[in-house]
Amino acid sequence: MMLQVEKLSFSYGEVQVLHGIDMEVPEERIVCVMGRNGVGKTTLMKNIIGLLNPSAGSIRMHGREITKMPTHNRIQAGLAFVPQGRMIFPKLTVEENLKIGLSARSDGLDRIPGEIYELFPVLKDMTDRMGGDLSGGQQQQLAIGRALVTGPKLLILDEPTEGIQPNIIQQIGRVLRQLVEEKHMTVLIVEQYLDFVREYCQGFYIMNRGRIVAGGRTEDLGQDIVRQYLTV
Ligand SMILES: Nc1ncnc2c1ncn2[C@@H]1O[C@H](COP(=O)(O)OP(=O)(O)OP(=O)(O)O)[C@@H](O)[C@H]1O
Ligand SMILES: [Mg+2]
Repeated sequence: MMLQVEKLSFSYGEVQVLHGIDMEVPEERIVCVMGRNGVGKTTLMKNIIGLLNPSAGSIRMHGREITKMPTHNRIQAGLAFVPQGRMIFPKLTVEENLKIGLSARSDGLDRIPGEIYELFPVLKDMTDRMGGDLSGGQQQQLAIGRALVTGPKLLILDEPTEGIQPNIIQQIGRVLRQLVEEKHMTVLIVEQYLDFVREYCQGFYIMNRGRIVAGGRTEDLGQDIVRQYLTV
């Protein structure tokens, strides 16, 4: 199992936001986490990557306990994170943004791996452009490219399709599929678009008020669940 989350709880101060989350992500799958706004999806991802520390429970990667491991060690162990809202550096060039990812590598590689530009050819054409001058979709591709620079085994993305035009959404979906099929990576993705989930994800979890309330294979994600937990 690539990732196992067990009985994970988290509070912002006095306010408990995650309540005993259990979740498993098998290797070489794309698994999504869905749920309405404010149910705790981002908080869960930040606990998994180590930007927030749970009050209880455990996180294991390949069976290895990482619950208390600092984020940079998790990245060296093969985790990578594309945050919600992309968070690229607007005043740095595309190439400089990608190079930020290099600093997290343990092998001292100082050139951006060519495969990043193969996956996202648009970045190759724009290496000297400022990140802030890119379109939303291009910025998202840059954010994913930056995460891939560390050579991760498990890529976590928080709403990568939010506010992005449909043709780029499809492109992102195809890249994720390619990463799984050709590079044997695993993907955990927070995603709101049902069409994207049905097309690209094999497994799903649904959160509501800090709890996992449903989960399974994407083909079993029925209308009743969608109506109860996803539509507003
Ligand atoms: N830094 C923080 N301090 C206090 N409360 C927070 C903080 N960040 C988020 N929260 C609260 O925690 C709850 C879960 O937020 P979170 O961002 O994890 O939800 P989400 O499911 O990712 O929502 P969205 O779909 O809008 O991205 C919300 O009630 C939110 O207001
Ligand atoms: Mg969020």
